[in-house]
Amino acid sequence: MDRCGGGAGFRSVAGMEALTSARTAIRAESLTKTYGSGEATVHPLRRLSLEIPAGGFTAIMGPSGSGKSTLLHVLAGLDTADEGRVVLSTADREVELTGLSERELTLVRRQHIGFIFQAYNLVPAMTARENILLPSSLGGPEPDRHFYDMVIDHLGLTDRLHHRPFELSGGQQQRVAVARALVSKPAVIFADEPTGNLDSRTGAEVLALLRAAVDEFGQTVVMVSHDANAAAEADRTVILSDGRVLETISHPTAQALATKMIGASDRAEAPGRAPHGVGSEGTR
Ligand SMILES: Nc1ncnc2c1ncn2[C@@H]1O[C@H](COP(=O)(O)OP(=O)(O)O)[C@@H](O)[C@H]1O
Ligand SMILES: [Mg+2]
Repeated sequence: MDRCGGGAGFRSVAGMEALTSARTAIRAESLTKTYGSGEATVHPLRRLSLEIPAGGFTAIMGPSGSGKSTLLHVLAGLDTADEGRVVLSTADREVELTGLSERELTLVRRQHIGFIFQAYNLVPAMTARENILLPSSLGGPEPDRHFYDMVIDHLGLTDRLHHRPFELSGGQQQRVAVARALVSKPAVIFADEPTGNLDSRTGAEVLALLRAAVDEFGQTVVMVSHDANAAAEADRTVILSDGRVLETISHPTAQALATKMIGASDRAEAPGRAPHGVGSEGTR
C-alpha cells in the first residue's frame, strides 16, 4: 500500500478512487489504539470502522471514556492509531492520513480541517482575534471578511476580540475555539463537545453555525456531544461504546438518543467487561 511518505506534498492513495463513493469524506478502517499494559490496559479504539458522509452532519455519542475524543483526534490526523487506516477525501483527491509525516499532516490539516478542541487549546499570549486568525496566519486559507464578521457576530464575540484567553469566561473561550475552526470554511470541521460550556442560547448559535456549514456551504461536520438535544441537530448519530461503534442512527429524536445513551452506559459498565480507566472529560 502506498503510504504517502516522503516529499514536500502528499500523494493520492493509488487506486482508491475506484473503491469509494464520492460521498464519503472520511473513512476509518479497523482503528485500534491501546494505552498502558497489564491490569491498566485501556482500549479507546477496538477495530473501529466508520464512514463519514461528505456534506453531512454526523454526531458521535457515547459514555465518558468510550473513546470519542481519541477517535476524533485520530480521524483529524492529530493523533495516531496503533493499527488501521484513515482516508480523507477532499474535492480533488484522497489522502491516507495514517502514514503521512508530521509535516505532511500539518499541511493537510491546515488546508482542509478545522478542529474545535474539547479543552479549547487557545494560545494564552494571543488575543481572541489573533487566536481565531492563527490558522490563516500560519499559511491556511484566508477567511472571507464578511463571513468572519458574521461568525464573530453570531458567536457574540465582537466586543471580546482584543481580550486574551485568561480574560475570557470558559464559554467565551469555547466560542473563540469555535470561531477559529469555522472562519476559513474548511472542508471538514471536527467539534469535540463544542457546546459543553455554553448556555442554551449560545449553544444553539453554535449548533446553528455548524448546521449552516453543512446546509449552506456543503462542509462536513463531525461533532462529539454528550447532549442528546445537540446530537439531534445532526443528520446521523454514531453511538460508541467501549471503543466500538454500537449503532448508527439516521435523524434520531433527542428522546431516542437519550434512551440509547442509557443503554450504551449500561453496556460499558456491565460486570465482566474489561475495566475502562477513568473518563477524561474536560481534559482532552
Ligand atoms: N494519553 C492517554 N494516556 C492514557 N490513557 C488515555 C489517554 N487518553 C485517553 N486515555 C483513556 O482512553 C479512554 C478514552 O478516552 P477519550 O477518548 O478521551 O474518551 P471520551 O472522549 O469518550 O470521554 C479513557 O479511558 C481515557 O482515560
Ligand atoms: Mg472526550
